[in-house]
Amino acid sequence: MSTNSSTLNFDGRSVELPVKNGTIGPSVVDISKLYGQTGAFTYDPGFTSTASCESKITYIDGDAGVLLYRGYPIEQLAEHGDFLETCYLLLYGELPTAAQKADFDYRVTRHTMVHDQMNRFFQGFRRDAHPMAIMVASVGALSAFYHDSTDISDPQQRMIASMRMIAKMPTLAAMAYKYSVGQPFVYPQNDLDYTSNFLRMCFAVPCEEYKVNPVLSRALDRIFILHADHEQNASTSTVRLAGSSGANPFACIAAGIACLWGPAHGGANEAALKMLEEIGTPDRIPQYIAKAKDKNDPFRLMGFGHRVYKNYDPRARIMQKTTHEVLNELGIKDDPLLDVAVELEQIALKDEYFLEKKLYPNIDFYSGITLKAMGFPTSMFTVLFALARTVGWIAQWSEMIEDPSQRIGRPRQLYIGSPKRDYVTVAQRG
Ligand code: ACO
Repeated sequence: MSTNSSTLNFDGRSVELPVKNGTIGPSVVDISKLYGQTGAFTYDPGFTSTASCESKITYIDGDAGVLLYRGYPIEQLAEHGDFLETCYLLLYGELPTAAQKADFDYRVTRHTMVHDQMNRFFQGFRRDAHPMAIMVASVGALSAFYHDSTDISDPQQRMIASMRMIAKMPTLAAMAYKYSVGQPFVYPQNDLDYTSNFLRMCFAVPCEEYKVNPVLSRALDRIFILHADHEQNASTSTVRLAGSSGANPFACIAAGIACLWGPAHGGANEAALKMLEEIGTPDRIPQYIAKAKDKNDPFRLMGFGHRVYKNYDPRARIMQKTTHEVLNELGIKDDPLLDVAVELEQIALKDEYFLEKKLYPNIDFYSGITLKAMGFPTSMFTVLFALARTVGWIAQWSEMIEDPSQRIGRPRQLYIGSPKRDYVTVAQRG
């Protein structure tokens, strides 16, 4: 990594700040010594200009619409790879050999069951609990069940915790779903591949044979690949920040799930589908476009816009293709929601407001239609996202723990509250 420097003139002083260059992408001005040299902090709410770490995992070029995992384009991984291979790549940095892949798949598969007392833990939830609430709680609760993998200073324990989470997340996600619909939990079946096993745990019932549809399994596997990692987004940064204090891995991933739940992040696919349902028919699109453009109306086109992509989200293109594949397989010829989505996309992509603000469809625009067609209720959409993103969170968390320069994350602030003042007793307060 080559370095040069830049000069900052502040308060009559001139300060040299090192500039670091990555392999690709924007350089960074290293301001870590700024406070020591000037007594000033930088100010960047929402971190729009701030790199919080060095990372070798995922690269995004938002202007060009490029997404690479460990250097490999997302389009190639989604077309040729499978989800567990992507997990291996994200965790270890290289695509596995055939033997490494077989060993990895075997190890994940052999960790899919959850401790049987987790069943009782589930019974404590109300039947109408949101599955994301159950996920936040149950993943955090794993730390209470697997004490032998919570010492983060031990690489072996870190590895076991990582495998456990990747393997058990589908089981927990399926349990959250089964609980919400009042059906018995279906145990994992280890001779099925990762995604087929998940579909079976969600949709099989004990009273009849369940045959996994390979087209749907492949489509969902691809959806998992698309969601596996996305650089330093809000939930990943949450995981890193939680982990920087030395918290155990299960607790850190639970923190990531909590952050992902929000409608501006992982909750957007649920919100996008609800919006398409609310619009209902293509003739109502113009009124919703007008609402989205109205400064006095808080409404936004869900599934549109992205903090980093100022071009078509490359995942959205693959998602759109997957949507058509799934609908074809299921024989859904005319889906009114798809009609609304396609028309809305066409109109928005030509509209001056969206062009000027570089607002393009993101991955969530089409994923809701696809998941709904597969039989998932909207409340499960973000759960599926969390399932897939778990490997990204773990890879980023491991990278941070293994980084010798890692310190606890502790941002500063611009204080705008009252200056120092003296306490006034209740009797004296006017
Ligand atoms: N519809 C209408 N206007 C929008 C939209 C939208 N979906 N998104 C952004 N804008 C407008 C904003 O009003 C703002 O306009 P202004 O400059 O006149 O004030 C401008 O575009 C910039 O928007 P910001 O909110 O400042 O952009 P930011 O980068 O902070 O937000 C975000 C990105 C949260 C994704 C935003 O585009 C949004 O709310 N989109 C809808 C929710 C969504 O789809 N989220 C999924 C993200 S992808 C993911 O998490 C997997």
